[in-house]
Amino acid sequence: MAALRLGDTAPNFSAKTTEGQIMFHEWLGDKWGVLFSHPADFTPVCTTELGMVAKLKDEFDKRNVKVIGLSVDPVDSHEKWLEDIFETQGARINFPMIADDDKYVASLYDMIHPNADDKLTVRSVFVIGPDKKIKLTLTYPASTGRDFYEILRAIDSLQLTSSYGVATPVNWRDGDDCIIVNSINDEEAIKRFPKGFIKVKPYLRITPQPNK
Ligand code: BEZ
Repeated sequence: MAALRLGDTAPNFSAKTTEGQIMFHEWLGDKWGVLFSHPADFTPVCTTELGMVAKLKDEFDKRNVKVIGLSVDPVDSHEKWLEDIFETQGARINFPMIADDDKYVASLYDMIHPNADDKLTVRSVFVIGPDKKIKLTLTYPASTGRDFYEILRAIDSLQLTSSYGVATPVNWRDGDDCIIVNSINDEEAIKRFPKGFIKVKPYLRITPQPNK
């Protein structure tokens, strides 16, 4: 299976999860989605990641994003592990976790990189838009826990682009100035950005964050 690329449709699938059987596209509905894999149940880095994602549920909800985890272990293993996550991280998992014991979804999304590990998944993240297209991918090795604040920051950027036609510059944080995308000409920009913009160069036009 060729690697999925930005702009591709996120493949649909049916899967067992800790919240029952789902059809992925139906489960997403008209929301944004984050599908992320973790290498295995009862592993330390994954334990901390899942606790953090549960604690950030309100942040994902605010952004209209549904989150779903995956590992290549069965549901009963996930359920036992969730108790450990509650005990050690102080958070109850509040999103479904796919039990991908036949590695069907992991293969579909190219989450197993055999030269890293031929049995477990790497730490993949797919951000999926309401149009079911893949908007962002990240791949981390098993030993490096992801920064879910960065994933929220990237979702903010993606949503600004989709709603307002702005891009975000280096090290952008919520509330910072944005960049008008080059497909919007100056005439159109005057109409679309009532707060105005500074034309540093014809290709570099800075405007205050439109939704602030
Ligand atoms: C972890 O989550 O800690 C982990 C999982 C697989 C390999 C290495 C670390």
